[in-house]
Order: sequence, then C-alpha cells, then structure tokens
Amino acid sequence: MPALNASSRARELRREIARHDRLYYEEAAPEITDREYDALLRELCDLEDAHPELRAPDSPTQRVAGKPLEGFKQVRHRVPMQSLDNTYSLEEADEFMARVERLLPGIKLRWTIEPKVDGVALSLTYREGLLELAATRGDGTTGDDVTQNIRTIRTIPLKLEGDVPDLLEIRGEVYLPKKKFAALNEEREKEGEALFANPRNAAAGSLKLLDSSIVAKRGLSAVFYGLGAVEGGKAPQSQEELLHWLKKIGLPVVPKFWEADDEAGVRKAIAALEKIRHDFAFETDGAVIKLDEFRRREQAGSTSKAPRWAMAYKYEAERARTKLNSITVQVGRMGTLTPVAELEPVPIAGSRVARATLHNEEEIARKDIRIGDWVFVEKAGEVIPAVVGVDLKARTGKEKIFKMPEKCPSCGSKVFRDPELTAIRCINPDCPAQIRRRIEHFAARGAMDIEGLGEAMVDQLVTAGLVAALPDVYALKAGEVAALERMGEKSTANLLAAIEGSKGQPLWRLLFGLGIMHVGASVARKLADKFHTLDKIASASVEELESTEDVGEIVAREIHDFFRLPHNRKLVESLRKRGLNFGERDERTAPASQELAGETWVITGTLSRPRDEIAELIRRHGGGVSGSVSKKTSYVLAGEEAGSKLDKAKSLGVPVVDEAALHERLKP
Ligand code: IVH
Repeated sequence: MPALNASSRARELRREIARHDRLYYEEAAPEITDREYDALLRELCDLEDAHPELRAPDSPTQRVAGKPLEGFKQVRHRVPMQSLDNTYSLEEADEFMARVERLLPGIKLRWTIEPKVDGVALSLTYREGLLELAATRGDGTTGDDVTQNIRTIRTIPLKLEGDVPDLLEIRGEVYLPKKKFAALNEEREKEGEALFANPRNAAAGSLKLLDSSIVAKRGLSAVFYGLGAVEGGKAPQSQEELLHWLKKIGLPVVPKFWEADDEAGVRKAIAALEKIRHDFAFETDGAVIKLDEFRRREQAGSTSKAPRWAMAYKYEAERARTKLNSITVQVGRMGTLTPVAELEPVPIAGSRVARATLHNEEEIARKDIRIGDWVFVEKAGEVIPAVVGVDLKARTGKEKIFKMPEKCPSCGSKVFRDPELTAIRCINPDCPAQIRRRIEHFAARGAMDIEGLGEAMVDQLVTAGLVAALPDVYALKAGEVAALERMGEKSTANLLAAIEGSKGQPLWRLLFGLGIMHVGASVARKLADKFHTLDKIASASVEELESTEDVGEIVAREIHDFFRLPHNRKLVESLRKRGLNFGERDERTAPASQELAGETWVITGTLSRPRDEIAELIRRHGGGVSGSVSKKTSYVLAGEEAGSKLDKAKSLGVPVVDEAALHERLKP
C-alpha cells in the first residue's frame, strides 16, 4: 500500500532531518553537505505534496520559504514586551540592587546575570507545543507577525519537546552570528549593496524581508531567556529553572549565565562575562542583572516602560570622540548613495580612523548628526567604524544639518528613493561613478579576473575619457594606454593581454561580472550550469529562472528585468561584438550529445568526482538530475556507501547503475 510506505518514509525522513539539524547546530559536526540536506528536505516536500494528509505542522518542510508577503500583519502581545533600564556604571548597578532590596525588605534575594544579546527581540507563541506565531516587539504592545521568516531558522523548534503548557509565550532575541554577519557584508560589498552597520541591524533588516527565501539564506539564529503568557500548564518559577527548562523543551538559550546573592557576586559575574563575551557567536554589549525568583519580580513590579527587577549593565565599547569635518556621498555600483563621515583622524582600537559610514539619511536624522559636530565613533561589530552619537554639550549652534543631495554627486541626475532598500539611488545607467564601480567589479578577481584593471587603473581610464562604458575596455589601444601616467610599454602590453585573455572566460564569470543585483558568483555558476548560454538566460522567463537552484522569485525577476532594459541589451550586444564568450566556448557546460535525453537521474553515495561535476556531465548529454528518488526516476547512480536513496530505488524498482556504466553509455 503506497500510502503506508509514504508515511513511513516521511517519518524516516523527518527523523533523519532532525538528526542532521542536531549534528549541524548542536554538535557542529555535520555528516552531510547542505546540498544533500536540501535533497532530503525536497524529498519530504514532494512526498507531502503527493500525500497532503502526511503533512504535519512540525514537519521540517514547514521551514521551507513560502511566497513573498505583501506586508506584515500586526499582532498584539498577550503580555507586553518591555525594555530594560541600562547603565554604564557599576555604582548605578549597585544602586539598582539596593533599590530592589528596599522594595523587598528583609527578603534574601538572588540574582541571575546573563549576557545581553545584541539582537532583535522576539516573542514566540506555542499552542499545544506547536509554533503558532512569531512576533517582533514593535512598540511593546503590538508587533509584526514574522512567523514565515522565523520558521526558516533551523535552531527554533517548530514543536517543543515534552509536556508543556497549552499556551506558551517565549521571549528572546534573534541574532545574526558574527561570522555570518562578516560574510554577508563581504558579499554585499562585492555586489555593490549597502553594508549593514552591525549584526543587530543585519538581523533586524533580515527579519523585515518579505521574501523568506532570502531570510533562509542569511543564517539567523536565536536565544531565549524569558516568558510571556502561560496558560494551561506549569512553568518554571525562577530564571535559573527557566533557562534549564527552555533548553530541555528544545529552545536555544544563552551559553552561560551566573547566579549571585549580593553586589560583590554580581560584580564578579559581570567581570567574568566581560572576559569571555567575545567568544560567543552573537554580539554582547552588556550583562543583564535579573531577580532570580519570579514571585519576587511580581512584588518588585514594573514602571510603564521597564521592569524594576532587572537592569542592563553595558560594557564600554572602544570608542573615540572627534570632529566631523564634512559629509561626503559615495555612489555604489548599483547607484546607491551612501553618506560618509569625514573625520578628524583619531586612533580607535589600534588603528587610525578618518572616515566612518553614516549608513543612510534616516540614521543621520535619528542620531541628529550635524556637520561640525563633535561625534563619538565606534568600531561596530569590530569591523567598520561608525558614528554612534553626538556630543551635544559641545554644540555651538554653527553646526549644519545634512541633507542627502537631490542630484547624484557624480553625474548630476535626479536621484530616487528606493523604499525596499531604504536607500537613495542614482538610476542613470551612464553615471560615471557607477561605471567606475561596475568596471572594477567586472574586472575583479572573482569575476572576469583582468589583472592590472583595479581601482586606480579604472580611475585613470575613465578620467582620461578612454572608457565610458564596459565594452570600451575591449577597444583600448596600446598607444592610448601607454600615454597614461606610470604606464610603460611592458605594463601596457600586460594589461591589454589580460583584457584580451578575459574574452574567453567562462560564462558564469561574465554573468557575475555584469553585476546584476543579487547575482553573486555562486548563483551565476548555477545559472550558467542550467542555461549554458547568456542568450538563453537573457530570454528566460521569470518562472524558468526561478526553477534554478538558489534563485527565488525576487532574484529571478531582477535577472529577467535586467535583460529587458534597453541599455543592458545594448551592453550585451556590444560585448558580443567584441568577441566575448557567451557560453558557447565553455567546455564544461557545452551540450555534448542527446544520449540521455528525457531521462531523470539521481546521484547518491561517494563517487570519484564531485556530484556537481557528474550532474553536469549528465546534463551535457541531455539528461536531467533530481535530488530525490521517485517512480519517475530513470536511473539511480550509486557510489560507495549509498544510503536511503539506494534503498528507495530498490523498493520502487528503479534501475541502479554505477559510474562505469554511465561512462560506458556516454562513450562516443
Ligand atoms: S530580559 C522585560 N535578558 O535587551 C524585559 N533582555 O535593551 C526583560 N535583551 O528588551 C528582558 N538580552 O530585547 C533580557 N539576557 C537578556 C537579554 C535581553 C538581550 C534585550 C531585550 C530587551 C532589551 C533591552
């Protein structure tokens, strides 16, 4: 009976996926690649599509990104989400504890000290143990329903373990791990997109994305430390108990916390945390001191804004005070205008800082930063310096309010507000600043890899009027280049040879080099592998593009629209005339035969070459490759230690072959 088979297979897949989640997140010892993991998930998705009765609310398939939302629904919190009073002074922290002691005279108090996680506050609602809702704090009373995005976070359980109250609200913090933050910004820099100031902004920005498929890729994580509403069941009665219990029911908690019963003990804990806080995966900017017992918290009560029973002690960041001389505006490759603080140079954390990002106009207004102000500069996330605030006491009244220009500082054309990116953009495709950035990107090592065509060279070429658009690079003449400053005969010849050589670069490099929004090197490779030529990519529909691995609706639309803009079409035609490889010359991807036409292959186990390569080989001979075995599978190619897919092929009667058999069939 197929339904029975399907249900046991679904159960088995869910078990497997849960096991791999545990290996990945808890033990940091994954046994399979992300691709293999995705294949398991896909198989389960297919199975649930075919047998909807098997779909369960806690199935890992419920983490698969849904359709992009139009906007977020507003939800009211059953119990308001408060904020915390904070201080930078240990004396004030002592005073806070003394105050609580006065509120609860004669009672022996116990304190819990936890890292303050620099993330975005989140409330989860579980009903009968199943995740029903995830909401941001918003104004404390009403927040955004971000459930679809939160479901993509693999460390947040869709179902709690054990016996839990019928209704349970859990409070905590979503964060972007420091490593993911660094990688994300690096990627954004390459793509010419605005950088995130720090991991918290990146986490907040990610939660606000309407397309959960992008959220899924960001690698968000979370920790939980508090309760909201609890109905129909028992919950812990102290912070210490709570943290152990949260962990037991499957929720991630802070990696370490301390208990203390007086001011000295609390100070010790604060000092201990300061020593190790940089080792955590999340940013920590302080310690939260809380009364441990919940009944004591009730006695202490709250003000309208914050509880009286808790306080955040914040560590001093490495910061400096300096003068903001002026604000300049940079134009990125995609035309995004970024305000930059030009500072009186100061040393911070061992390096000299003369410029700092101001992110965007809203940030400047929010912090009320004016030209001529004395400002505080910090190394945010220990990477990019940022202006964090203004020394208002030093204001003379002569400071000037900054306004983003209405015209592009490079080309003078009118700029536009892009609400999606909270950015102001110059949309003139011929803007010289953008052209410079685009050529730099095109020639960069990860893209067309044209040695000698770096920032300085591009600047010279554009300034001298030799290059006004990308294709001009391929029309450069030796005489013109040699006439530039510091260009001898030898370096001219080298540059021209590198440019000539780049014409034969594989399609994916060209595609990446074109600088389409959201198309990084890895997406470019996947597109090239699937479509084989630039012309096929350029003429593909949104749906066809979307069927490429790692390409969601938004990215597909971006690619589609790119190739429909007249100036981009012109660009493509000019590059074709200059003789660039549009994919026809790619050996790896050029179609070889139609021997496997109409067949669907599944590859499993350890093989002599990476699976990608074998998949490519099958595609070049007209075949298709799928991640999961079904009745429609033509062949399973099984290597060493093939597991569940091999079993499934056998049970469905799908023929299983080895690598040698594949090569035999492909012999000319
Ligand atoms: S307890 C009633 N514990 O910091 C509020 N908050 O700046 C109790 N935060 O709103 C909050 N780490 O979003 C608590 N270990 C921790 C925390 C923490 C980060 C956040 C939380 C709070 C904000 C206040």
